[in-house]
Amino acid sequence: MTTSPLQKARYEYEPKLPGMLRHGVSQITVKEGEPTSSVADQETIKALFPNTYGKKEITFEKGENKAADKKLTVGVILSGGQAPGGHNVISGLYDALKAANPENTLIGFKNGPSGLIEDDFVVFDDPFIDAYRNTGGFDIIGSGRTKLETEEQFEIAADVAKKHGIDAIVIIGGDDSNTNAAVLAEYFAAHNTGVQVIGAPKTIDGDLKNDDIETSFGFDTATKTYSELIGNIERDANSAKKYWHFIKVMGRSASHVALECALETQPNICLISEEVADKKMSLSEIANYIADSVEKRAANGDNFGVAIIPEGVVEFVPEFSKLIAEINELLAGEKAEAFNALPTWEEKYAFIENGLTPESMEVFKILPTGIQQQLFLERDPHGNVQVSLIESEKLFSALVADELAKRKKAGTYKGKFSPLHHFFGYEGRCAFPSNFDADYCYSLGYNAALLIQNGFTGYLSKISNLSKPAEEWVAGGMPITKMMNIERRHGEDKPVIRKALVDLEGKPFKFFEGNRDNWAVETAYVYPGAIQYYGPSDVCDITTKTLALEQE
Ligand code: FBP
Repeated sequence: MTTSPLQKARYEYEPKLPGMLRHGVSQITVKEGEPTSSVADQETIKALFPNTYGKKEITFEKGENKAADKKLTVGVILSGGQAPGGHNVISGLYDALKAANPENTLIGFKNGPSGLIEDDFVVFDDPFIDAYRNTGGFDIIGSGRTKLETEEQFEIAADVAKKHGIDAIVIIGGDDSNTNAAVLAEYFAAHNTGVQVIGAPKTIDGDLKNDDIETSFGFDTATKTYSELIGNIERDANSAKKYWHFIKVMGRSASHVALECALETQPNICLISEEVADKKMSLSEIANYIADSVEKRAANGDNFGVAIIPEGVVEFVPEFSKLIAEINELLAGEKAEAFNALPTWEEKYAFIENGLTPESMEVFKILPTGIQQQLFLERDPHGNVQVSLIESEKLFSALVADELAKRKKAGTYKGKFSPLHHFFGYEGRCAFPSNFDADYCYSLGYNAALLIQNGFTGYLSKISNLSKPAEEWVAGGMPITKMMNIERRHGEDKPVIRKALVDLEGKPFKFFEGNRDNWAVETAYVYPGAIQYYGPSDVCDITTKTLALEQE
C-alpha cells in the first residue's frame, strides 16, 4: 500500500496523555468521587438500571494499581458515523492493555455493533495497530449503525463474549450508542455475566456533551476541516467579489458544527437551528434576514458573501415541520402507490394541492420546484420525507433570490446576486485527527483500559479540563446513567442520554450573537487555514472556540 508522507510522519506522532496518566499503568490508582444520580427522571431510571445506577464518579491519580497485571480480553466496537480519532481510541486502549500485561488481548468487532452479534472479529497485534496510529477513518475495523437494543441481541452478545472469554466491551459511539452501552452493561450485570461495558464519546456533531463530557471526539478536527474550506471560500469570495456562497454543514439536528465554523471564520450569515425554533421563524423570515445582509452589503458595493446553513435547520422551522408531517401522512401506506402512478408532475402537484391544508400549501408553493419534487420523490424505507437530504442551501438561496427580486422591483435593492452552493460533511469525518483529537482519543482509549482493569461497568471514559494543555487534563469515568433522562422515542418512553443542542444562553452563542450584525454587513472574514500537525503549540494544539468560550 502506498502511504502519503504525512501518514508516514503521523505514525511516529506520540499522543499526549493527561499528566495523571503518565506514570505508567502500574502507578495509576482510582480516586472515588460522589455517588451520582441521573439528570432527570431519577426514580424511573434507577428502577430501570438497578445494578448500574447511582455509582460514583471516579478520577485517576498517582498510586499503586493493584489490578494492573490482571489478564484481560477486551472487545471493541466502532458505532455510527466516522469521526476523526477513532483509530487512536483503539490504539490507546491497546497500548494500555499491553503495557499492563503483554498477554492481554484486544479483539475488534467488525463493521459496527453487528460484528458482535455476528461474531465477526479480528485480533489486534502490533503491526496491525501501528498501521492506523494517528490516522483518520474507521477503516481499521469498519463501523455500522445497527443498534444493540433487544434482549435477543444481548443474549447473543453474552454468548459471543463467553466464547472469547471477554472481560469487557468498549463501545465507541454517540449518544444513542452509549445509551445502548448502558443498557447492555445493565443486562450483563443483571445476568452475572461478568462482562463490563465502557463507552467512549464520539461524534463530529458535538451533541454528546454535558456537565461531564466537555466535547465528543472528532468535533475538533471536523470543524477545523470545514472552517479551513469555508475560510478558503471567503477569501475567494473577497477576491472575486461576485458570488454569494451558501454552505450547508453537517451536524444533524444540533447546530454546534455551524456555530463553531462561524466562530472560526466570521461569515456574513450563520443560521442557528435552535434559535430558529426558539423564535418560531418562518421560511420567509429567514429569507428576509439573509436578504437584509445581501442588500446592505450591496449598498456598500459588496455583491458577495458567505452564509452557513446547519444541516438540520428546516426541521426547526415550525411551518416546514408541519408540511413534512402532512406529506408523510399524505403518502402513508397505499396512498403512495396512487401518487407514484400519476404520470406527470402537474398531476402529482394537483394531488398534493388536494391533500395538504391551505397553510401547508402556502409553504409548499414558495419552495423551488427542485425542492418540492425532492420532498415527494426521495423518501426513506418507511415512506417518510428524508429531511437530511433536503438541499437547504439551495432552498434558502432560492427564497433569498425571490425576496431580492421583490426588493429590486420596489427599488430598495440595486445589487447583483449570484449564489453558489456547497455541502461540507464527509470531507471532515475522516481527516487526519488534529493533535487535539489524536491526544484526546488516545487518552480516552488508554483511560478506558484503566476503567476496565478497575472493574467499572456502564461508565463513559471521561477526559476533562480540555481547554488546558494535555498535561492538565483530568482522566476518569462517569456512570452513563448520570447523563440520562426519559424521552419519548417512536411512541415509547425510553431512557436516553440527553442530546445537547446549542444553548442559546451559552457563551459560544452569546459571542456569536454579539458580533453577527457587524459580520453581516462588514467583510470580517477570518481564514483559519489547514490543520497544522507540526509547529508551535499555539497553532497546532489549540482546540475549538466553542470549548474555549465554554470554559472561559
Ligand atoms: P453520528 O451521529 O453517528 O456520529 O454521525 C454523524 C453524521 O456525520 C451526521 O452529521 C450526519 O447527518 C450523518 O452522520 C450522516 O450519516 P451517514 O454516514 O449515514 O450518511
